[in-house]
Parts: sequence; structure tokens; C-alpha cells
Amino acid sequence: MFDVEKIRADFPILKRKINGHELVYLDSGATSQKPESVLRAMDDFYRNNNANIHRGVYDLSVESTKMVDEVREKVAKFIGGRAEEIIFTRNASESLNLVMYSWGKKNIKEGDVILVTRLEHHSNFVPWQVLCKEKGASFRVVEVDSEGRIDGSSLKRLTEDGKVKLFALTGASNAIGTLVDIKKMVELVKKNNPRVVVVLDASQMVPHMSMDVNKLPVDFVAFSGHKMLGPTGTGVLWGKKEVLLNMEPFMYGGDMISEVGLTETTWADLPNKFEAGTPDIAGIIGLGAAVDYLTNLGMGEVRTHEKELVEYALEKFKLLEDEDLVTVYGVKKSEERGGAIAFNVKGVHSHDVAQVLNNFGICVRSGQHCAAPLVTSFNVMSMVRATFYVYNTKSEIDYLVEKIKEVPKVFI
Ligand code: ALA
Repeated sequence: MFDVEKIRADFPILKRKINGHELVYLDSGATSQKPESVLRAMDDFYRNNNANIHRGVYDLSVESTKMVDEVREKVAKFIGGRAEEIIFTRNASESLNLVMYSWGKKNIKEGDVILVTRLEHHSNFVPWQVLCKEKGASFRVVEVDSEGRIDGSSLKRLTEDGKVKLFALTGASNAIGTLVDIKKMVELVKKNNPRVVVVLDASQMVPHMSMDVNKLPVDFVAFSGHKMLGPTGTGVLWGKKEVLLNMEPFMYGGDMISEVGLTETTWADLPNKFEAGTPDIAGIIGLGAAVDYLTNLGMGEVRTHEKELVEYALEKFKLLEDEDLVTVYGVKKSEERGGAIAFNVKGVHSHDVAQVLNNFGICVRSGQHCAAPLVTSFNVMSMVRATFYVYNTKSEIDYLVEKIKEVPKVFI
């Protein structure tokens, strides 16, 4: 059974007070909090196992190598891939840049088209924009409808010439929470070019729902460890083996080589070819503990919990809208929305709202949420965003709503 109070007890930070109030952490979309087991796993590693991986024949090094290999297997199982297809990076941005540098620079040519959507986080937008400029390729952006869903007719129009070579899309908007029908969108794009390569930003999916890369029509999947209860500095790129095999390394140096001569060097096998230098070993161990924690909760249960929270929040925010106090952005149905509510308090800048809420111990993000093209499409410069995760409760939403009502009073 999903027991939120029991889960909350696993997160030491939730005992903290902020400005004399209990911490109400509603910014897991930016980074999640970490359970005791993740903190302990990293601490234990440094105390008892610390040694570099792949570089020693002595016991400690063999142990830490084995520990990292086990996490790779665990992450692969968690998303349905094969261990050799899991590349550890620093974060989702690095994973996406890896694809841009290694696959994009080799394969995108003048006249090609890269298609993204207006829903994207800057990390799945800017690298492709830059690559298009460099190569003389076209950068096309699929529009969203008034609720922030990908607009099918815009997508059809932008793909009918069959020139799209790469389609980069998110599975869930970090800014407004839209859940994307990935299969349907990719199907529409592939109608005009079945060989399109698809890059999925799953940063707001993998932490929140069960996912199987084998069941998705995608070639690459990027996500961060720190948004799924793991430590910062950990990220993952999954890629189809046959695609990864045909890519050049992203970075050069230690641990990614097979043989080094004075004039020629050959590369290590997957996945090491893409993991130059000493990785964040303790971080990877922490990520493994995070995967264990989520696996024990059950990803179906995680999604159900967040869906309930977002449904509840939508109802409560509707009342605030009826009072003409706030504007809420995004889709109305919880089935189409991850655990995020983006809103503005009428007449008050988002940063001011976030600051007032902070006085009550509430952490929400304000600004453009690394998604300026999306946020500004709603004719505003910024939004406030509350994001929910496994440790959040309906009473925290009640508290948020109660304190939002206080915000205009501060400015009148
Ligand atoms: N991408 C993170 C967010 O949405 C930082 O807040």
C-alpha cells in the first residue's frame, strides 16, 4: 500500500523548518528530495568501497566496478533497456547534448529538418537550434493548442514534405505538465519519413510513471537521476544499440579507449565509448538506491498518487480561478497531466508570489522554467509552478491554496 506518511519519514529534509514553518516542498520538477537509503548508499560507498572503476585489479576497485555495473543493470531493467545501452551522464542536458554532438553532427546535413515542439525544455530545444544553424538545416517548431497540447495539425503541416530527419520531443512538459501521446506523435511524423530518428526527453516521465523503452517508437531517451530521488550530477542516456554503435564518442580520454597508438586510437565497446573520465561513482551508486526505492513503491502506484494529487489541486485551483484570483495553465484533465500545476496570481509577478509563499515554508519555482518558448506562448513572461512527488500530500495542497490567498494582501 502507498503510505505517504511512511514515505515522508524516509526523507530527512522534510523535518526542516523554513521561516518557522514546516517545509512544504513543491519543486520536485526542478529536483527531488533524497531518501535516507540514497544518502546512506553514497556515504557507505565512500566509507567502505571507494576506488576508481575499471582501473584496478585490487579488491576495492573490483568491488566499485561491480557496484556500478549492477546499477547499470538496474537502470536498464527499470526502463526496459539493455545494460550496454545505458550511458551514464551528468544530467539529461548532457545526455541530449551527447546525441547532438555524436549523432547530430555526423548525420544532419544542409537542407535536412530537425523538428521539435514548443513544449520542450531548453535542453531539448537549444542544442537542435544550434546544430541547425551550424549545418544550414531547418529548425521547425510544432505549435501547441490553447491548453498546451501538441497541435496535431501543426505537426502534420511541418512534416508533410518528408524532410524531417530528427524529431526531438518531451514525454511530459516540465513547465505545465502536459503528458504527450508519444506513439501518436511519432506515428504522424513517420508517415512522411519512416526513418526519422526520435529523441525523447523523459526527464519528467521516468521519475513519475512506469516506462518501457521497447514499447516506444524512439531511438534515444534522456533523463536525470536527481529528479528521481537520486543525487545531482547523475543522468542517463539510453540509445538503441544499433544506433549507438554507429556513433562517434562525445568526449575523449580515459576509459573510453580500446587501444591507443601514437597516430591512431580505437574506441571501447558500448557503453564505455561514451563515458570518458572518472564518472560520479558515488552518485551512480546513489542512483541505484533511488531506483530500488522507486521499484519498491511501484511506478504504477507513484503515478496513481500523483494523479490524485494533481486532480485534487486542479479542483482547488478552479475555486481560486472562480474567485478571479489566479490563472491556471495547461490541460484540464488529470489523465493528460503529470504532477504539475502552473499558474499566476493576478496582478502579481511570479517571483513575488514565490517569495511570499517561501515566507510560509512553501518552495515553488517561478520564472520561465527553462521553457521560454512555451511559457511566453501563453502571453505571459513567467509563471509559478508547483510540482508534486511521492512525498507530497493533499494537506500540503490545501496549505498552498490557503497561502496563495494571502499573496495579493501583501501587495495591496
Ligand atoms: N528542468 C528543471 C525544472 O523544470 C530544472 O525545474
